Amino acid sequence: MFNDNVIDRFQGLETPFYYYDLDLLRRTLAACSEAAGKYGFHVHYAMKANFDEQVLKAIQSYGFGADCVSGNEVLAALKYGFSKDKVVFAGVGKSDKEIIAALDADIFCFNVESVQELEVINDLAAARNKKARVAIRINPNVDAHTHHYITTGLDENKFGINTWQLNDVAEKLRSSASLEFVGIHFHVGSQITDMEVFRSLCVRINEIQTWFEDRGFTIKILNAGGGLGVNYHSPDQNNIADFDSYFKVFKDFLNVKPGQEVHFELGRVLVAQSSALISRVLYVKNGQRKNFLVLDAGMTELIRPMLYQAYHQIDNLSRTPENVTDAVKYDVVGPICESTDCFRKDVELPQSYRGDIIAVRTAGAYGQVMASGYNLRTPIQSVYSGE
Ligand code: LLP
Repeated sequence: MFNDNVIDRFQGLETPFYYYDLDLLRRTLAACSEAAGKYGFHVHYAMKANFDEQVLKAIQSYGFGADCVSGNEVLAALKYGFSKDKVVFAGVGKSDKEIIAALDADIFCFNVESVQELEVINDLAAARNKKARVAIRINPNVDAHTHHYITTGLDENKFGINTWQLNDVAEKLRSSASLEFVGIHFHVGSQITDMEVFRSLCVRINEIQTWFEDRGFTIKILNAGGGLGVNYHSPDQNNIADFDSYFKVFKDFLNVKPGQEVHFELGRVLVAQSSALISRVLYVKNGQRKNFLVLDAGMTELIRPMLYQAYHQIDNLSRTPENVTDAVKYDVVGPICESTDCFRKDVELPQSYRGDIIAVRTAGAYGQVMASGYNLRTPIQSVYSGE
């Protein structure tokens, strides 16, 4: 990802910024598309992971659909050329205004998260003489075994409809003339690397599918959500995920009927590896007990380490093997006035100096999109290669 030319180019640029390797992104997209295509599976990109313009254009060009969680994401998907027939709208709190915008845009379907939401969509669609396609997001109570902040499929989570409410759902679907039921939707969490979790999810999807069919409903779409994780520990060696093993779980364990479509909503795994947060060392503070590298990027640019104790590999791109002297342990921190503004403690790095360029790796997912303006920070820009 970082050859000498790229590093030379960084020298002349103002930091911090997000660097996107669009060639690597395209190779990742091609690998995913090929693996899904083998089984006829459909992938919607979970736009919340990254909505950089070039990233969206690349993803759209590979024929992916878009999984959106706000009215603005729906509009962005359409603006960047995603086909409206491949746009889905999820989220536990869709406002009336957002639902109306999506109805007017005639998107493929709403992933509905409560019985009350079914009522609201039905009323808004009726008022416009439209029929809204809906999939029911069901909380399958499958433990994703990931960080508790990014687990979504347990009874205690706010997402989806619990199975004990399905009778109400069935009744509501039958009595709502402006709704067209298309299928069932699941998403159990993010950064899942244990394929056993997806196998358990398949078992639950099969059971719930049978429940609906026993009551006379036809299911056209089985949507398994997203969640496939990436390897944050070795960004170079593992920069394209094992899509084959992932999709094969669903091929082997999901009960797919003739004519049904299987949908996925992958975010992180498509975009994480092909971007890094690039910053400079502003100051090196050598204390008695601690050495600090103070960067010009902090929690306002990448909050994942501070919010989820997430690991991101940190590299000093200015110290190549020839000029590495002794390794030093640094607490790598940002400039923000919060003690939690620390990317990681005790990071072993070559002796580092003011002006060195530091890469925080695997930052393409939930990085730039979660940046904030706290401390009135300047909005962070993107730099690309492979345009
Ligand atoms: N579908 C639904 C309904 C979702 O809620 C999500 C992510 C996805 C798909 C995509 O999941 P992915 O394939 O990216 O794992 N900010 C956190 C992650 C939050 C994930 C939210 N939902 C982080 O930085 O780890």
